[in-house]
Amino acid sequence: MTEIKACIFDLDGVVVDTAKYHFIAWKQLADKLGFEFTEEHNELLKGVSRMRSLDILLEIGKVEISQEEKERLAAEKNDLYISLILKMTPEEILPGVEDFFKSLQQNNIKIALGSASKNAPLILERINLTHYFDAIVDGNSIDKAKPDPEVFLKGAEYLGVDPVQCVVFEDAIAGVEAAINGGMKCIGVGDANTLNHADFVISGFNEMSLERLAF
Ligand code: BG6
Ligand code: MG
Repeated sequence: MTEIKACIFDLDGVVVDTAKYHFIAWKQLADKLGFEFTEEHNELLKGVSRMRSLDILLEIGKVEISQEEKERLAAEKNDLYISLILKMTPEEILPGVEDFFKSLQQNNIKIALGSASKNAPLILERINLTHYFDAIVDGNSIDKAKPDPEVFLKGAEYLGVDPVQCVVFEDAIAGVEAAINGGMKCIGVGDANTLNHADFVISGFNEMSLERLAF
């Protein structure tokens, strides 16, 4: 059994449910472009970078546009998304997350963020969780998207912890793969069938405890 010295958390879908805000913003864009964008389509964008998400959305609508136009649409979607997340409050922290952070702190286990989102710092500030994090790695500080392990390896490096002593919490398949590719343990958050490559899966942090980190 390896001693766990750090936990690295994905943000969207693990700490907060921002998928609903991404959905509103992407759907508004699809409406403007004149095609249907459903909640099922939105599932395909979880854990995926902003520009890759736009490409997937355009593929769904069979829309072909220039790179310049893509940049404009991505910025437009992000403006709407930001207007939605600016209204977020600490009440939107998913159940059990903050209590688990407190028990990690009390036991000197470091906490890092490993998110693809460039808006991660703003969200953490709105939900008042920034102060728990010993390191924050987000979409602004990485070159390679999950399943590349860069985002988690940087987190471990910033914390000064060996990757094998880190546990990653992830809700997206690509995120679970990124953790495995980085040589880290991974606890899935969500559906056990979807996240079947994780070491084990919880449906939420009310099921999580320090004891369960020892595996
Ligand atoms: C991920 C989300 O965390 O961040 C994706 O799961 C999102 O849905 C990605 O596209 C990038 O987010 P942002 O905030 O930089 O557009
Ligand atoms: Mg996620």
